[in-house]
Amino acid sequence: MQEKLNDILQRALEELIKIQNKDELGEFKVKFLGKQGELTSILRGMREVAPEDRPKVGALVNEVREKIESAYSAKEEEYNKIELEKELAKSAIDITEPGKFHEKGALHPTTRMFNKLIDICVAMGFKVVEGPEIETDYYNFEGLNIPKNHPSRDMQDTFFITDNILLRSQTSSVQVRSMENMKPPIKIISPGRVYRNDSDGTHSPVFHQLEGLVIDENVSMADLKAMLTSMMKKIFGESTKIRFRPSFFPFTEPSVEVDVSCPTCHGEGCKVCKGTGFLELLGAGVVNPKVLEMSGIDSKKYRGFAFGFGVDRFAMVYDGITDLRNMFKNDIRFLKQMK
Ligand code: DAH
Repeated sequence: MQEKLNDILQRALEELIKIQNKDELGEFKVKFLGKQGELTSILRGMREVAPEDRPKVGALVNEVREKIESAYSAKEEEYNKIELEKELAKSAIDITEPGKFHEKGALHPTTRMFNKLIDICVAMGFKVVEGPEIETDYYNFEGLNIPKNHPSRDMQDTFFITDNILLRSQTSSVQVRSMENMKPPIKIISPGRVYRNDSDGTHSPVFHQLEGLVIDENVSMADLKAMLTSMMKKIFGESTKIRFRPSFFPFTEPSVEVDVSCPTCHGEGCKVCKGTGFLELLGAGVVNPKVLEMSGIDSKKYRGFAFGFGVDRFAMVYDGITDLRNMFKNDIRFLKQMK
């Protein structure tokens, strides 16, 4: 029996050395260690061994089995290592290869100016509301005291879709909607896109405005002036000067045009401000009582003021951009300069 077992061990170790691949290793396992394998069949034949010899033979079989198993495991380990290395080699990273460059985006100057203005206004207690870009004649004109055939309609060359439906030419339309929907006190801003039938170096058919409206019992032009001054200083710096000039808008009375000292030359006069030292940046005024009444607000009890910024213009002044067309061209090189 001992001889037989030694022979199995001998053959097993010899075969193991000759093994070339994992398949052969599998076959080896079945042959020597499997349920139908040589060692198991010896155990099965135990019946023929004299009872007093059985423990000895059993121990011997186990000893041989352990030797074969450990030799087998060492070989299996070897193959696992080879396979892992192959796998790693397949997915290896070539650290000498040039990296892939991901271009970082940048926010558009108009978006950044919107964010700045909205942050400032929200900190002052304004609520942000939005209105539709496709608007009715009423909200864009009539409700703002610009009746049909009123000459001031010519101030805004509008894209009409039908006689009654248009692309809003000003965010002031949201004033009317807000007055209808809210009860005073009202303190809203409305950022958004507006459209006009205009296109040249200083006009784009689509541009952006930010509208502001405050309605309460005791508000006046003085509040408007203080608020706008504070806003402009927050955007362009503490030393900014602000100038109010009388103007006309049908929805405000009195109306003003607001100028800000040129941030480029600080009022000295330069190319940006055409030597005047000031830039005309927004329209504003005390809400015309007729406008309040049309939206159902008691003009004896309440007063209001409103303002409208051209946000693209603000962004251009802020970033020193000279051609409006760059703002709408989608040229990535332009945006890169803004980072
Ligand atoms: N909607 C005006 C425009 O587009 C700007 C404006 C002026 C808005 C005076 C206002 C305002 O709210 O009070 O030219």
